[in-house]
Amino acid sequence: MSEEYKVTPWEVTGEVDYEKLIREFGVSPLTDDLVSRFRKIFRELPSEISRKLFYAHRDFDVILDKVESGKKIYLYTGRGPSGPMHIGHLFPFVFTKKLQTMLNTELFIQITSDEKFLYHRNIGREEIFEYTIDNIKDILALGFDYKNTYIIDDLRAIQYLYQIAVSVAKRVTFSTAKAVFGFTHDTNIGMIFFMSIQAAPSFIGYFINDKYEGCLIPAAIDQDPYWRVTRDIATKIKLPKPAQIHGKLLPGLKKGIKMSASIPETSIYLSDSPEAVKKKIWEAYTGGQPTIELQRKYGGDPDKCVVFSYFKFLFEDSDDKLRERYEACKSGELTCGECKRELIDRINKFLEEHRRRKEKITDEYIEKYLINNKVDLENHIRQYKLLR
Ligand code: TYM
Repeated sequence: MSEEYKVTPWEVTGEVDYEKLIREFGVSPLTDDLVSRFRKIFRELPSEISRKLFYAHRDFDVILDKVESGKKIYLYTGRGPSGPMHIGHLFPFVFTKKLQTMLNTELFIQITSDEKFLYHRNIGREEIFEYTIDNIKDILALGFDYKNTYIIDDLRAIQYLYQIAVSVAKRVTFSTAKAVFGFTHDTNIGMIFFMSIQAAPSFIGYFINDKYEGCLIPAAIDQDPYWRVTRDIATKIKLPKPAQIHGKLLPGLKKGIKMSASIPETSIYLSDSPEAVKKKIWEAYTGGQPTIELQRKYGGDPDKCVVFSYFKFLFEDSDDKLRERYEACKSGELTCGECKRELIDRINKFLEEHRRRKEKITDEYIEKYLINNKVDLENHIRQYKLLR
């Protein structure tokens, strides 16, 4: 990977060159043809696709073929509960919810409590348990329906994944894991095995409902290394390769500093107070000129502006209005102060609403989503008798 940026499932730094990343990861761009096919099949286009925020894929064309010929596919996505969620983490879930409605299908949400326990030296069990519940509430506040949504919390539901995980682990050598994930002799052995746990929900649907003929994973592109290995193993265990649609990452608020839980000013957390949002956005990096006079004269650069990214990712539903904002910034008609004020307002309205919905999600309500309560374990394990 190039020197200026780094994208791994656990760390993203620098300014990501997304076109270059397509070549480095060996994924395919989401072409205009595929976008048109999508629009034709579903008769609508989510803004995440029309704006190419979800911009690359593996076998998304195969998924569209299957959907077109009436075959059923299910969705799989996830979250690693290492801290409170920020707005970037919510983005793939917002898109997943739209896809779930369009496809009218089931969704498996994996909560990788084990991954975060293994990866972070300083995070203990107690915090992981706490974040697991808190993050699940944030995700469910988006309105997923318990009738077709399963939550798999690894530390509480491993028995549902383990049959698949051992079949995957048996076929992944240490040298593959090292090459794909950059593991060294200092990596703990839990992390080395863990990839097979994240692979497992890519196949679980087939053992829960035999109508499924494919699995689609919406996630940001940082998770791709997992899918690369998972897809190779799929052939070996004679199951369909999971397909992916890859999103871009919402950039951090400060130039050159990664969005990081240890540097709270770099992102907006779903728990941030209105004052904190105001301060963070006010100090955010923009593509504007140093003075209003220069801004009016030369205009700003929305392509380099974090504030514009926030509108583009989550805070402007209308493509037309987004385009108007883009032009007004470029022409110098719009100043950074005006843009920031509007964004602060929109984020705070969204967060207020989000927290209102989150408050209604009780611990008992979460139970309705947990795979442990939805799928009979003994019967489920019996389904694996033919798995290689
Ligand atoms: P995690 O918790 O790091 O991230 C959760 C989801 O958010 C995406 N993401 C972002 N999207 C936009 N902007 C950002 N700045 C940003 N940062 C992270 C991630 O790509 C992910 O989609 N190992 C996983 C958990 C997992 C998973 C999955 C994720 C298990 N199975 C299947 C996606 C699909 C993790 O720690 O995600």
